[in-house]
Amino acid sequence: MTEFAIICGSGGLERATSFAPVTCPGSRYGAPSETPRIGTIEGAEVLVLARHGVPHRLAPHLVNYRANLDVLSQLGARRVLALNTVGGIHPRAAVGAIVLPHQIVDYTWGREHTYADAAELLHVEFTDPYDDILRRRMLAAGTSAGIELLDGGVYGCTQGPRFETAAEIDRMDRDGCTVVGMTAMPEAALAREKGMAYCSLSLVVNPAAGRADNAIDLEVISAVSREGMQRVERLIRVFFQREVGAR
Ligand code: HPA
Repeated sequence: MTEFAIICGSGGLERATSFAPVTCPGSRYGAPSETPRIGTIEGAEVLVLARHGVPHRLAPHLVNYRANLDVLSQLGARRVLALNTVGGIHPRAAVGAIVLPHQIVDYTWGREHTYADAAELLHVEFTDPYDDILRRRMLAAGTSAGIELLDGGVYGCTQGPRFETAAEIDRMDRDGCTVVGMTAMPEAALAREKGMAYCSLSLVVNPAAGRADNAIDLEVISAVSREGMQRVERLIRVFFQREVGAR
């Protein structure tokens, strides 16, 4: 059984071709974004699932988050590292920064967001949506790799797939959001329902709407995300070196 899973977002480990598809158990919640793959990173066996599918085809509101977390859980994952690309709202979250968020505000709607069915009352504890132990281990990996991480931040999760208006970003700023993305929820809550520890590496790929003179440019976003995801991959390698070394 494999303890760790990485859910990758736009770019990054999506292209980890050395990872082989696992025979997938099937989910009562439907099809996951892709067949999860398995491989080793620095000696640790790790499951990888591309949230948007391979090739990238599923918009954030169409991702089957329940099936994704369900298959990873069935395959034995107990800890999930989520990779996200986000827009920066707070000046601290400048383009290129890697944020390790500690909180979430959920602005999504209409997504299948729980495993509880109508006959079941399920109130999970979610005061701190991100696992503190994983966050601290990631911060330590950052220090040891010489990769700067922003410790803490509020991830405001919008519905998408459109970007936000400037006024929506102003409101999110007043709400205390540091960054804005479209995929933290319901992923984090479903991981909690499954009892899996969860943390996010959120790479800032653009200033949020209205926070820069020019409009959001998708080509710039993909260039920033290519460079940033290389840093994220290096960080993940150091994270697993340390995990394996600690065993
Ligand atoms: N808004 C929402 N999601 C995003 C953004 C953004 O500006 N950038 C990357 N993902």
